[in-house]
Amino acid sequence: MDSVTKRYPDGTVAVDRLSLEIPDRAITVLVGPSGCGKTTTLRMINRMVEPTEGTILLDGEDLQQQPVTTLRRSMGYVIQNAGLFQHRTILDNIATVPRMIGWGKQKSRERAAELMERVGLDASLAKRYPYQLSGGQQQRVGVARALAADPPVLLMDEPFSAVDPVVRKGLQDELLRIQDELGKTIVFVTHDIDEAIKLGTMVAVMRTGGRLAQFAPPAELLSDPADDFVEDFLGADRGIRRLSFFPSAGLELTTGPVVRADATAEQLAAAGGAPHLLVTDADDRPLGWAEPGDLTAGDLAAGRLLSFGRPFVPGTDSLRAALDCAVLSPTGWAVAVDADGRVTGVVSQQTVGAAIRSAHGAGDPGAVTPGDARAEEPGDVTKVAP
Ligand SMILES: Nc1ncnc2c1ncn2[C@@H]1O[C@H](COP(=O)(O)OP(=O)(O)OP(=O)(O)O)[C@@H](O)[C@H]1O
Ligand SMILES: [Mg+2]
Repeated sequence: MDSVTKRYPDGTVAVDRLSLEIPDRAITVLVGPSGCGKTTTLRMINRMVEPTEGTILLDGEDLQQQPVTTLRRSMGYVIQNAGLFQHRTILDNIATVPRMIGWGKQKSRERAAELMERVGLDASLAKRYPYQLSGGQQQRVGVARALAADPPVLLMDEPFSAVDPVVRKGLQDELLRIQDELGKTIVFVTHDIDEAIKLGTMVAVMRTGGRLAQFAPPAELLSDPADDFVEDFLGADRGIRRLSFFPSAGLELTTGPVVRADATAEQLAAAGGAPHLLVTDADDRPLGWAEPGDLTAGDLAAGRLLSFGRPFVPGTDSLRAALDCAVLSPTGWAVAVDADGRVTGVVSQQTVGAAIRSAHGAGDPGAVTPGDARAEEPGDVTKVAP
């Protein structure tokens, strides 16, 4: 988008000289307060709204030069409350676009069934009508319908804002998983900054009056907000939330205070220097914390154990997760486990604190948690000044 302005006939400037380079095959989130021009921006991309000034290029081609029907077919569109056809079954809703572009009934329905599976909808729902589905299920149908003709671009306008936080988290995780498989170019509108940070490879923060405040990857928004408006919009936990982008893999673990429930007197004595001991079962799974004085050799599990809280997995979980474990632990020590839940060591709040200080000191996080689509750099993204 090159210096795009939208002035509605009544004089309202909904979008003001917006320039954005939206990366291919990544999720770009437009976020900002109500009325700041997010929907208008999204609709200019599929020409439901025409810009007053400026140009929008798709793969270098001016959108104005492209027939609207061709353009819309290359762009799936998902809105809040899914916007489903109430008189059509779920399967027929999803098959709408393939039918429209002449795929034939059988092929369209097969494609729709395949997409139901992809978005996590049980095949038994195929013959139901939208009103017979929960809000979260309807949103999944909306996503499946937008994907049906396999468009390279997906435009999503607050698709998950009408559902409760638990369902919403499920839908977000599902979108990230689908995106990992399909690699669409997604423009996602929300006014929820946490959703923006979770989903976005790039995040455009807009302010009232349709002005761009900052365009940056989420970790950079959190570390270097461009101005007071962005800082305010990010909210109070900016420092803590930024830790989600630092890996916990580098934390130095110790196994000194870890003992098995069948430990001998000698093993206990060897570990006895620590103020607390972490007791595990014979498979190295954590049972709980004990004070050395409470333990009798050969019968540790019977001692009064304190909860070990929630363990973290170094290499998979972030520094934020490790800190949370240490904070929740009654001893102030976080328990590290491998993917099978076996204890690999423990780490103190102080050690986590030191890692946080050095991570912040080192500037930009070098890595994010594996399995996270944002781990890949979004190609040749040009940062645009507000
Ligand atoms: N058809 C229209 N005619 C006149 N003004 C409009 C029209 N559509 C939107 N606006 C105005 O343009 C501005 C931007 O609206 P837009 O719908 O793009 O905001 P938004 O960021 O999507 O808001 P929300 O978060 O509430 O959905 C608002 O001031 C709105 O009142
Ligand atoms: Mg809107």
